[in-house]
Amino acid sequence: MGTDQYRSNFVANEFKIQVNGQEHRVVTRPGRPLLDVLREDLGLTGTKYGCGEGACGACTVLVGGVPTRSCQLTMDSIDSEIETIEGLAPESELHPVQQAFIDQGAMQCGYCVPGQIMTAVGLLREKPQVSRDEIVTTMSEHICRCCNYSRIRAAVEQASQSGAKSR
Ligand code: FES
Repeated sequence: MGTDQYRSNFVANEFKIQVNGQEHRVVTRPGRPLLDVLREDLGLTGTKYGCGEGACGACTVLVGGVPTRSCQLTMDSIDSEIETIEGLAPESELHPVQQAFIDQGAMQCGYCVPGQIMTAVGLLREKPQVSRDEIVTTMSEHICRCCNYSRIRAAVEQASQSGAKSR
């Protein structure tokens, strides 16, 4: 990294980002992770900090509909709309994936759940009817410290069967 590029990472710029259908203007340094902006600047604390290294999946949000680790995405690289867990059910009715996680008891401490749900929503929007193998492969990108993996798989299966694609 050259000196100018290094320096530019510490000079605040204004960024316009779309989050859950709303535009936000954020003044911050270009290299700041989206996760920090969501939690600290926009108050969207449903997205969690786990490892900060792209390994655990706790910070997953949808960017342009694609599950993305927000701890690894810097502000200067965002070019699509962002969806967080707060945007899934803006009204009183839960998203089918959220409801399925409750129905299947797919959470213990719950810390990893928002990221797990965002990945499941991204998967089911892309492919509403998924096989068990596809669910296991996709969800294995997330770490659940309570090891609740079989219930998480069951929840995504339920959501797939109930038509989560519609949302
Ligand atoms: Fe982003 Fe763990 S906090 S992957």
